[in-house]
Formats: sequence, structure tokens, C-alpha cells
Amino acid sequence: MVLIAHISDLHVGAPNFKEDILLEAIRQINELKPDATVITGDLTDNGYYLEFLQAAEYLSDLRGPHIFVPGNHDARHVGNETFEDVFRYRKGTFVMDDLTIIGLDSSEPDLDYGKIGRSQQIWMEEELERASERGHFRVIALHHHIIPVPKTGRERNVLADAGDILYSIIRKGADLVISGHKHVPHVWRVEDTFFVTAGTVSSLKLRGKDINSYNTYYITEDSIRIVLNQVQGERIELASHSLRE
Ligand SMILES: [Fe+2]
Ligand SMILES: [Fe+2]
Repeated sequence: MVLIAHISDLHVGAPNFKEDILLEAIRQINELKPDATVITGDLTDNGYYLEFLQAAEYLSDLRGPHIFVPGNHDARHVGNETFEDVFRYRKGTFVMDDLTIIGLDSSEPDLDYGKIGRSQQIWMEEELERASERGHFRVIALHHHIIPVPKTGRERNVLADAGDILYSIIRKGADLVISGHKHVPHVWRVEDTFFVTAGTVSSLKLRGKDINSYNTYYITEDSIRIVLNQVQGERIELASHSLRE
């Protein structure tokens, strides 16, 4: 079995950033000993260099491999450049035993909307093909959601090229697509692909009675279980399905 932990939207540097909740989430994740932890953007609130350093310091407490992609907040104030200084890359492919995680950069400097763009789309398709040849479980990680999420008001922030990216992902057969951005945990299934958004792990920009959370994915050869972990609450199963019967 493979276990992936997924945290998003830390918003380090925001007035409503809760350090104690982030540290508690990291402690819980370390206890779970995931095979990888993926952080899908908005690590910082303003993209300031010092915020990146602070975020990197918190996340250095995570044991095991962890993978980052930037969010729209990380692309503010030239954060799109300094992100790479601190986290070494903005997109990349991470290959583990039976698992390939493809991290995409959906951010645009100083803009809130997201876009993958044609060249990154082609690269993603090639990486998905390679992962399929290896027989791997294929994960795509990006900040912006591709499919609108319920209870988030007027939709303005799906990827500008959501239709094209959705088409590529379905056609090339990704198994799991994980995002953040809306601070609302949700699962959609389109054909054989699960699209999962995470809540915010440590910002108080929450909707209704939501509380801070992160997701975990338990993957076997023929099944996936998607769990919402409230940092100061319960563990709630969001979905459980057989894969590609
Ligand atoms: Fe966010
Ligand atoms: Fe965001």
C-alpha cells in the first residue's frame, strides 16, 4: 500500500495563519509515515522571500519525501522567482516505487487565476505516458482546481485552460489529481480519475463551520481511499473506490 499525505494553503505570513495548527498537522503526518507528502501551493500569503524561508523551515520538520508546487499567493511580489530559490523547482516529476507524482506550476505572477499553458501541458502528457509505461499510479499535483468546487461562491478561479488540461488528464489516464486554492475539501470523479481538493491546513480563511485539515490517500493495487483529516477534529472518509475494474 502507498500512503500520500496532501497539505495545502498554509498561508505563512497571513494575520490568520495559525502556527500551532500547522505544527500539529506536521506532527500527525509524521506519525502516519506517508510515502510522500505533497504541498499544493499558497505556502505563503504574500510571496515574500522571508515567508518562503519561514515556510521551508516549518516543512523541514516533515519526515520522508515532500513535493511542492506554488500557488497564486506564492507568485506575488516576484515570489514566482524566489520560490525556486528556496524550494529548488516550480514543477517536476517525482518517481517512487509504484508511484509517479507530476507537480505542475499553475501560478501566474501577481494574478489570482491559474493557467498551465501549452508547453507545460505537452510536458505533462509526456510524463503521464512515461508513468503509464512504468505501470505506475499517476498523480497530478497543482494549486488551482480544474473542476469547480461546491460552496465556493461565484467561480472565477478554475484554470484558464481547464478544458484542455482536463481533456489531457482524462485521455492520458491520470489516477488522481490533487489541488488546493479554494480551502474547501471535495472529491469529484470523472471517468477513472479522482479530482480532490484539500482544505487549508493552517489559515483561518475557512468557510462556514469548516476547520483546518489535510487529506490522506491510501492506495493499493486495486483501490483508493480518500480521507479528510481535521487537524483538531475527526478523520472522515471522503471516498473509497475500486480502481479500473
Ligand atoms: Fe489559499
Ligand atoms: Fe490560492
